Amino acid sequence: MKTTLTRRNFLGASATAAAAFTFRNISVGAETESVSTDPAGFRFVHLTDIHIAPEKGAPEGLRACLATVDKLDPKPDFILTGGDNVMDALDQTHQRAKSLYELFNKIMADHAGLPVKICLGNHEVFGWSNKKGVKPTDPLYGKKMFCEMHDLPGTYYRFDHKGWRFYVLDDVQPAVDPATHNPPFGYVSYIDRPQMEWLERDLCEKPAAMPAVVVCHIPIFSMTVFEDGKDRDARNVPHDLMCRDARALAELFNRHNVKLALSGHMHQVDRVQFRDLTFVCDGAVSGGWWGGSFRGFEEGFGILDLAPNGNLRYRYCDYGWIARK
Ligand SMILES: [Fe+2]
Repeated sequence: MKTTLTRRNFLGASATAAAAFTFRNISVGAETESVSTDPAGFRFVHLTDIHIAPEKGAPEGLRACLATVDKLDPKPDFILTGGDNVMDALDQTHQRAKSLYELFNKIMADHAGLPVKICLGNHEVFGWSNKKGVKPTDPLYGKKMFCEMHDLPGTYYRFDHKGWRFYVLDDVQPAVDPATHNPPFGYVSYIDRPQMEWLERDLCEKPAAMPAVVVCHIPIFSMTVFEDGKDRDARNVPHDLMCRDARALAELFNRHNVKLALSGHMHQVDRVQFRDLTFVCDGAVSGGWWGGSFRGFEEGFGILDLAPNGNLRYRYCDYGWIARK
């Protein structure tokens, strides 16, 4: 993996500090500048790991991020979130968890001038940590809160946009308590059987020439899982950091013209090229959970330019947020 971190000032010297943002180019493999200028192409932005909460200036930070999105030229067609929009529902009371969803929805409704597509992250799953006494009998237990608060019939779905198909997947699944063998006991990452069957069926029915994008929260494949400060061994990748279906999904995606697999969760940026498939693990809008940069990666979001022929360009945009102390 080669990661080239080059920064260029996008707005120039006259920009104010609050408005300054930079592209952090992650250059690996074939990539062409012409992608963003193809008149039949389009742009979207990937905002992941927002971790909204009233504390640490997070609402102001998200508004600053959305203001930067609004200034992009060319303008994105939509915002695709990558999960962990709230901080958090996994380990909070019903009232707190719901209030964070409401806060997120209000900011997006008031300040995102684009359609927003929602992806589930581990921090959206209500009550799975078992720490605040939340009972499975709660009417919004688990992923029901996510569906209810975003008015979604389920946690995974697809949509088409300008000749591309997008699969929004849910790779956050319940872990099993080793003592009692009862789920949920936190989470692990895999695609459950009904979702995998739906995905395989839909990919088979998709026109073969139609390029596709997959987004899920926990990376299907990423080198960042070795950068968690625990001196990881490649034989022992924890599946709360990386999807245990990596090999099967990579093969499936390569067979069906899936060009891009986007994720978040790690709050770090990398890009892995496997045949025609690009894995992008994107940095976090919240950086280090609104406490500053995380492992060298500033608060930011991904800018994706897609061309009708399946070519794509990814850049990481540092929107210039400075953490509140
Ligand atoms: Fe996160």
